[in-house]
Amino acid sequence: MSYETILVERKDSGVAIVRLNRPKVLNALNRQLMGELRDALEQLDNDEAVKVIVITGNERAFAAGADIKEMAPKGAIEMYLEDQFRTWDAIRRVRKPLIAAVSGYALGGGAELAMMCDIIIASDTAQFGQPEIKIGVIPGAGGTQWLPRLIGKSRAMELILTGRMFSAKEAYEWGLVSKIVPAEIYLEEALKMAEEIASMPPVAVQLAKEAINYAYQSFIM
Ligand code: HXC
Repeated sequence: MSYETILVERKDSGVAIVRLNRPKVLNALNRQLMGELRDALEQLDNDEAVKVIVITGNERAFAAGADIKEMAPKGAIEMYLEDQFRTWDAIRRVRKPLIAAVSGYALGGGAELAMMCDIIIASDTAQFGQPEIKIGVIPGAGGTQWLPRLIGKSRAMELILTGRMFSAKEAYEWGLVSKIVPAEIYLEEALKMAEEIASMPPVAVQLAKEAINYAYQSFIM
C-alpha cells in the first residue's frame, strides 16, 4: 500500500518504522495522515514478520498537533459526525509494542499520539505540550486522561490549563519518557531498543503490553 503523508519501512530485524511525513507543517495531523497511520498500523499489526513498530517524525517535529487549518472552519456538529477520534481508537488497539521516537515538537495531538505509544524515547531537543487551551479547545485524544495518570494531577492541570511547553528533561524526570538521547542518535537508539524487544518471545511481549496497559484501567482488589 502506498501512502502520501507517512513513510513505512520494514527491517529484517522484525522492526517497522512509520515516519510521519508532512514536514512543511511540522507533521500536523490532518485526517489523511491519521487515516493512513491507522491503515499502516493495522497492516503491520497483522504482519507476522513485524514484532515492534517505531513511530517517528523528523528532527524538528514529531507532530505539532491536529491540523489547525483543517479544523478551524469546522463546527462542533460536523466534527462530531466525522467521528475522527474513531481513528485514534484503532491505534490504541494495536497489540504489538509501539515506540515513539520523538524529536522537536510533540504538541497537542502530537503529544497524545506519543503518549498512546507504549514507550517514548526523546531527543534532548524534544518539546512536549498540550497548547489547545490557547486556541479555545481541550486536548481531544486522551491528553486529559493520559497526562494526569503519567505525571500526576497537579502538573497535568498546570500544563493543560496554561498550555506551557515542557522539555525532554522535565518529561524524563516526571516519567513520561523512558530515555533522553542526543538528537543525532534518537532514532538509532529507538531502533536499538525496538530490536531488543523484537528478539523476545512475541506472544509474551504482546501479553505483557496488554497486562501493563490493564494497570491503567483497573485496580486489583
Ligand atoms: C497546521 C501547523 C501546525 C498545526 C504548525 N503548522 N503547527 N499547521 N496545524 N498544528 C504550520 C505553520 O502554520 C507553518 O506553516 C509551519 O507549520 C511551520 O510552523 P511555524 O509556526 O512557522 O514554526 P515555528 O515558528 O517554529 O513555531 C512552531 C510552533 C508553532 C511553536 C510548533 O507552529 C505552533 O504553535 N503550532 C501550533 C501548535 C498547536 O497549537 N498544536 C495543537 C493543535 S490542536 P506555514 O504554511 O504558515 O509556513 C490539537 C488538538 C485538537 O492538537 C483537539 C480538538 C478537539
